[in-house]
Amino acid sequence: MCGIVGYVGDRDACPIIIKGLKRLEYRGYDSAGVAIVNDKGELNVFKCKGKVSGLEEFISEKDTRGCVGIAHTRWATHGEPSDRNAHPHYSASGNLALIHNGIIENFRVLKDALIQNGYTFKSSTDSEVLVNLIEYVKQSNDCSLEEAVRLALKQVVGAYAIAVVERGNNSRIVAARQSSPMVIGIGKGEYFLSSDAASIIDYTNDFAYLNDGEIAVIEKGKDLEIKTLDNEDGHLDIRRLELSISQLEKGGYPHFMLKEIHEQPNTIVDCIRGRINPETLEVYLSGVALNKEKFLNAGRIIFVACGTSWHASLIGEHIFENMCRIPVEVEYASEFRYRNPIIRKDDIVIAVSQSGETADTLAALEIAKKAGAFVYGICNAVGSSIARVTDSGTYIHVGPEIGVASTKAFTGQVTVMAMMALCIAQMKGTMTEEQRHAVVRDMLRLPEITKEVLSTDSVIADLAKIFTYAHNFIYLGRGYNYPTALEGALKLKEISYIHAEGYPAAEMKHGPIALIDTEMPTVVIATPDHTHDKTVSNMEEIKARGGKIIAVMAHGDEHASKSADYVIEVPVCSECLMPIVVSIPLQLLAYYIAVYKGRNVDQPRNLAKSVTVE
Ligand code: G6P
Repeated sequence: MCGIVGYVGDRDACPIIIKGLKRLEYRGYDSAGVAIVNDKGELNVFKCKGKVSGLEEFISEKDTRGCVGIAHTRWATHGEPSDRNAHPHYSASGNLALIHNGIIENFRVLKDALIQNGYTFKSSTDSEVLVNLIEYVKQSNDCSLEEAVRLALKQVVGAYAIAVVERGNNSRIVAARQSSPMVIGIGKGEYFLSSDAASIIDYTNDFAYLNDGEIAVIEKGKDLEIKTLDNEDGHLDIRRLELSISQLEKGGYPHFMLKEIHEQPNTIVDCIRGRINPETLEVYLSGVALNKEKFLNAGRIIFVACGTSWHASLIGEHIFENMCRIPVEVEYASEFRYRNPIIRKDDIVIAVSQSGETADTLAALEIAKKAGAFVYGICNAVGSSIARVTDSGTYIHVGPEIGVASTKAFTGQVTVMAMMALCIAQMKGTMTEEQRHAVVRDMLRLPEITKEVLSTDSVIADLAKIFTYAHNFIYLGRGYNYPTALEGALKLKEISYIHAEGYPAAEMKHGPIALIDTEMPTVVIATPDHTHDKTVSNMEEIKARGGKIIAVMAHGDEHASKSADYVIEVPVCSECLMPIVVSIPLQLLAYYIAVYKGRNVDQPRNLAKSVTVE
């Protein structure tokens, strides 16, 4: 939520931070703005409601020269999207400008105290309170900007990643973080600042990851200075990140989402690379192997996640219970963290998160860690907060996911879960070698299988045309594919704004069947499994009530096709891997319906990709 970016060096800051901002737009796109300190030390803020392209147009005629700059793309929390609520915010005197990602929870108390001291506010944001608090502290203590930031932040309750620049200082940015991501890119005599390393990968591969409660003074030509809120030396955590710029471009596709859907055969290859031995058919994941005892003695696995990652976790529940015979619970991180959960020392808590930054998932993990559980991460973003706080983990390695609707991360998460379960099953002996090898063989075929599914792109595009104007959709599935139905419905909701619900097929009779009429399309996942016949009966029940059925089914399944109005045929592999196969046509269906409806597929309204606030 909200993207922040900054630059200090000898180059003109504006083009650099605008480029970075465009890469961060997946984090929010309600408004955008920049603050620049020029050679004369003048501090200028330019900002407006809407996307970064609007800001670019707005500043095209302005003098934005200057070698120190900060920029922000907003996902509104306090105050509606508008010019005045856009960041950066000036302090009352106009001497400071600040950008902020997060929520200042005690902003009302702080604001009232500042009003008592004569401050007035132009916006309804918590962020403007923070910049004025810093100014007030600076003036009252007659101290440096970094000292003022430190003292002000000691009064703040909440989450923040902030960057502040000062009139008269054209070589320095002060930045700080608490529960919101922030990295500093280290160049030659120059520094970059961002919510996400990928946005500044054009300039450097070396990143310092700021930790919670740390303040950085980022000054041209000087070493990075990192202090804690208690004025002790901070920890300089520098890592190298290899990422190719082409991964951040659309590569000829009209949308990132379509590119990412079509990348899946390759991202599955990247996900399993070096982890499956094609000769011996054995799976090796260091995160599991090095913590063998923990997994062998686990009393329970608890998944904590949000959104699509939560759906992948529901599939993980089936996979781990079936293959490893370990009891599994799946929790919405936002619920888990606030309901005094029972966590035992032999629990393994697995956080599943594409971004590795989701605030609720991170908080849930910290609760589990404090309670003594072994905490494991399944993340995509390398070096992200969740990846760094977990005891161990497995990256899904699907490359940057930029479309707000998650696609390749979902299939990567399920792939990792299946590999983890195979490793554990081997250690525990809960599957025979033959059973394990059958799954591994199918896993190795997944790139080919998913390619085959993607070749039906145009069939699904045609189907989408028929249903573009539906107002509601139901998605049904059972077993491994009940969560796939939830995920299919979520995809459609997110990007087309059509109301859609996922249900276990047999639950249909307990309520949703009342919704069925000739206007209501139902997507039924009817691929072969031990409940296949029952699913086909459910299709008949819908048909009998005039409902239109789109069946996702195995090639040539006449039994299912007889009960369907439209079919999407997919190849078949091990049951536990079928959610990977089935989710792809559902992603495409949602994609094409959204395109035909003229929606902004990559940046759907009100959503953000990385939810770093509660
Ligand atoms: C947001 C995104 C979803 C994502 C969810 C969890 O809501 O729009 O696509 O599934 O956050 O994100 P995570 O990064 O933790 O997987």
